[in-house]
Amino acid sequence: MLVGKRILLVIGGGIAAYKSLELIRRLQDRGATVRAILTKAGTEFVTPLSVGSLTGDKVFQELFSLTDENDMGHIELSRDADLMVVAPATADLMAKMANGHSNDLASTALLATDKRVLIAPAMNVRMWLHPATQRNLATLRGDGVSVVGPNDGSMACGEFGPGRMAEVPEIIAAIEAMMANPAVSHPLKGRKVVVTSGPTREAIDPVRYISNHSSGKQGHAIARAAAEAGAEVTLVTGPVAIPDPVGVNVVHVESARDMLAAVEKALPAAIAVFAAAVADWRVADVAGGKIKKGAGGPPSLAFVENPDILATVAGLKAGRPDLVVGFAAETDNVIDNARAKLARKGCDLIVANDVATGTGTFGGDANTVHLVTPDGVETWARQSKDEVARALVARLADRLGKT
Ligand code: PMT
Repeated sequence: MLVGKRILLVIGGGIAAYKSLELIRRLQDRGATVRAILTKAGTEFVTPLSVGSLTGDKVFQELFSLTDENDMGHIELSRDADLMVVAPATADLMAKMANGHSNDLASTALLATDKRVLIAPAMNVRMWLHPATQRNLATLRGDGVSVVGPNDGSMACGEFGPGRMAEVPEIIAAIEAMMANPAVSHPLKGRKVVVTSGPTREAIDPVRYISNHSSGKQGHAIARAAAEAGAEVTLVTGPVAIPDPVGVNVVHVESARDMLAAVEKALPAAIAVFAAAVADWRVADVAGGKIKKGAGGPPSLAFVENPDILATVAGLKAGRPDLVVGFAAETDNVIDNARAKLARKGCDLIVANDVATGTGTFGGDANTVHLVTPDGVETWARQSKDEVARALVARLADRLGKT
């Protein structure tokens, strides 16, 4: 897919710059030609010699280098490419791009380009979550810049959270998606998407509740991927310990009934994805005060069924989303149970996953999913939840385009 494509790679100054060397090799494996701009800060992490040895070309570093300008000026350099990729995109590079700075070769080439731009942000978690970076990110998205990552994980600085640069296969997948569809950088632009995520909590008394192990990682990744695809996204999430995804309208709820109300408020939408692990039952009579441990032994709790949010939305007569996607969390007979859920809940697609003990699906960073539709079952290789999310969103955008 990348045969004959010319990629201009801007390598910023971050520890993730080492991954850019691998990126060059993998792009070349796919037939692309790579030219590199190395920022001054970038040279602190990788050398011009290592970058140039891999690209087999001059490494462009100086804006005011006569030799560079004679060989190829910065305007020509950026226009000569089919795509510009910034990896790692540091907080500083993003700020320069968002504000139109042009005080070095990288920022000048990015300002001068008439080609599409993909950034792979990488920075400390606090820097990533800082309102200034988030503002810059929103500006860049609004300017049509595509974004891959960052991923959650432990960082070189010892902190944990979002900020790790996307892995090389993820960056390649994003580049291939952009190349495959040059006219449409944001396939869900102008579309509304609603996603549910995380667990719900059902109160027993003011102190205790019933819940489950959902971390929200899969649902949040879907919301993020839909926003990256240009959609206007509302994420309705139960209580989770992970940060809100960027560029998404987030509604925090506790119980299944709260979640249903928030979803109904967020409609109409073109796509609704129900990744939340909603409690099927709630306690019939929630105690007004803390239930005391007494001589009578443990209390008996009676349960009533919660509303089924997925089935309610899938069954809407008016204002039903074009695509209603459910998940199935199963511990046995995963496919058969998912098929039954597809029929029972009336949705268009079920993403089935195994949540049995030891699978790591709840709370983990990776997932193995099976796409179950009335036409059959498709099993995807185990991949990160971010990759599942991007692939799912690409599939839904494709289906929406055909409806
Ligand atoms: O959050 P993570 O730690 O990343 O884990 C991800 C996940 C395992 C939670 C996720 O991938 C997943 O499988 N989500 C669905 C969990 C679930 O509740 O599945 P279910 O088989 O019980 O429900 C089937 C579908 O009906 C789901 O889309 C669910 O959101 C929906 N549902 C269920 C009950 C209910 N009252 N209302 C609903 O909308």
